[in-house]
Amino acid sequence: MSEQGKKLIFSGIQPTGTFTLGNYIGAISNWKTLQDEYNCIYSVVDMHAITVKQDPAKLRSNTLDAYALLLACGIDLDKSIVFIQSHVKTHAELSWVLSCTTQFGELTRMTQFKDKSAKHSDDVNAGLFTYPVLMAADILAYNADLVPVGADQKQHLELARNVAQRFNQRYGEFFTLPEPYIAEVGAKIMSLQEPTKKMSKSDENPNSCILILDDKDTIIRKFKRAVTDSEAEICYRDGKDGINNLMTIYSMVTGKNFDEITKEFAGRGYGDFKLTVGEAVAEHLRPVQEEFARIRADKQYLKECYTSNAEKALKMSQRVLSKVYRKIGFVDAR
Ligand code: TYM
Repeated sequence: MSEQGKKLIFSGIQPTGTFTLGNYIGAISNWKTLQDEYNCIYSVVDMHAITVKQDPAKLRSNTLDAYALLLACGIDLDKSIVFIQSHVKTHAELSWVLSCTTQFGELTRMTQFKDKSAKHSDDVNAGLFTYPVLMAADILAYNADLVPVGADQKQHLELARNVAQRFNQRYGEFFTLPEPYIAEVGAKIMSLQEPTKKMSKSDENPNSCILILDDKDTIIRKFKRAVTDSEAEICYRDGKDGINNLMTIYSMVTGKNFDEITKEFAGRGYGDFKLTVGEAVAEHLRPVQEEFARIRADKQYLKECYTSNAEKALKMSQRVLSKVYRKIGFVDAR
């Protein structure tokens, strides 16, 4: 709980290329809504990104893009703190402490580790393995109450809760056990090409994934190619993964519910539906793209934002870390 009695939210996003429509719907749009009710802290997690090989120049520019994109998506620095993870050293420091209360066995059960180590079999580094500990540190460094994420992060959050609980048992009640905030609709936006798989920027097929900086023609082309089914009915039903996904996306960008969408498209074909979804998404993203271009061009403004916000985050997390150090028996440095 934060000082003003409001609950505290923490979440993060990796700067590994432009955000996808999945990131936008599953996470960032909730981050934006939650700002009014909670004290929110959001981070561009560049330290997580280096668990897979990155080109240094690209990582630097992707990190600035990600920061500017969050602002362009409506994260408001008058309401929220937004910082770059590597600017706030307490995350790495707390991560080390927490790694000593995390069990090897529980890390081996992380499905994301299994997936990523299979995909990057030439570089199964220790960071990839201990990634969830750093994620726990991100959250616990602020004693966050709530963590808004997509469904794919649920297991990592459970681990963060277990690590916090174990620490509390060993050293006395201290960490808040963070709750996941996973929206009912949109928590898992699926690939447009294989709608049983989540939409991911690392997918090799570029048609599977909408990037939020894609231009209108590209967005419409990708939706036109979206894989659906052999029926002709636009309704939300088990087994209609492709249509369910398109309905979810359309619902999230227009605010219409599934019944309204079914009525709107009664008697109309899939081609028509896909085109309408594509146009609606492009229209929804247009102001975000314009705002991004404006903010990203102003390097001085961006720098002021990320430096002042990192200072705020450092101050808050330093208070937590100092208490942790005292609890575990480290000698005070001052
Ligand atoms: P990342 O960068 O992969 O994704 C950022 C957020 O987007 C959500 N997301 C999706 N939601 C719905 N449908 C999809 N297809 C989709 N793809 C991604 C993710 O669930 C996530 O919420 N480990 C995290 C970053 C992180 C973090 C944290 C999150 C680091 N520290 C602390 C919360 C708290 C990750 O890799 O997210």
